[in-house]
Amino acid sequence: MQKPDGVHLTDFEWELVRPLIQEIEELKAEKDALILAHNYQRSELYHSVADVRGDSLALAVAATTHAKRGPIVVCGVHFMAETAKIMNPDRVVLSPDPSAGCSLADSISADDMRHLRQSNPNIPIVVYVNTSAEVKALADACCTSSNAARVVNSFEEDTVIVAPDQHLADWVRSQTTKTILTWDGSCEVHRLFTTSDVAELRQMHPDTHVLVHPECEVSVQESADFVGSTSQLADYIERNRPQKVSLLTECTMSDNLRSGYPQTSFVQPCSLCPHMRKITLESVRDSLKHGFGEVHVDPDVSRRARRSLEYMVRVG
Ligand code: 13P
Ligand code: SF4
Repeated sequence: MQKPDGVHLTDFEWELVRPLIQEIEELKAEKDALILAHNYQRSELYHSVADVRGDSLALAVAATTHAKRGPIVVCGVHFMAETAKIMNPDRVVLSPDPSAGCSLADSISADDMRHLRQSNPNIPIVVYVNTSAEVKALADACCTSSNAARVVNSFEEDTVIVAPDQHLADWVRSQTTKTILTWDGSCEVHRLFTTSDVAELRQMHPDTHVLVHPECEVSVQESADFVGSTSQLADYIERNRPQKVSLLTECTMSDNLRSGYPQTSFVQPCSLCPHMRKITLESVRDSLKHGFGEVHVDPDVSRRARRSLEYMVRVG
């Protein structure tokens, strides 16, 4: 097996992981398994064993339409695996490392949602897909960073709560006339980017296109040439083919894109998501081989969370 383009390993390292990839391919074929990989996944996994790659929205809908009918292995953080299970309740969904969390998902609990509801009666609550199943079950709708404004604008009410990411809420605020209330959650990876980083980038690379994920602070969003979800940032590069680009998002994403755009240089400060890094080829193999990390969601919670997700898919 040749080293696929985009794998950031030396030839020596590739030889070490090759048998593991072979084993995963055999297990996949034997079990008719589907492997989903978020855009932040390690290059050796993303560019080899993954069947579907994409942002949170793409992963949330992919498994419902894909022809493979065996177990679904979600290479991403735990809320992504839980979302796949909610959308595919009759399938086995595996999270190769169930301890892969998310600071946004951890920032709001089901009790917080009940309080939010009680203190804001008649205000729709839209929750980011980066939340637990219980939180989704208590919301009116879910959203991802690629469809948040559309979901919010679909409500008749003049005020909408967007939780838990305060920065995504700021991004929505810039695209709606509605009053947006929010929560004080944030992403531990994206909040590290600052306007000084952008100023420094522009000073050192005046021709760079600065692309920012909406989980960054509003001042960083405002200093960008483009703001969007991980897949929307990738689409921007595909459409515009910039000579130089700076992606202010988790930096594995640039590694994963680089090989597809040899004419583009990627320059940026690096911020890694420690939770996404937990998923490895070894954990994917073990999960597939032994069924380790199976995701279970209470059926009633799942049914109600699915309503919020289906609303998002319908309008978003
Ligand atoms: P996307 O929906 O843009 O892929 O974002 C998910 C995420 O967790 C970003 O930190
Ligand atoms: Fe969560 Fe941030 Fe990691 Fe995305 S990058 S999974 S929002 S901690």
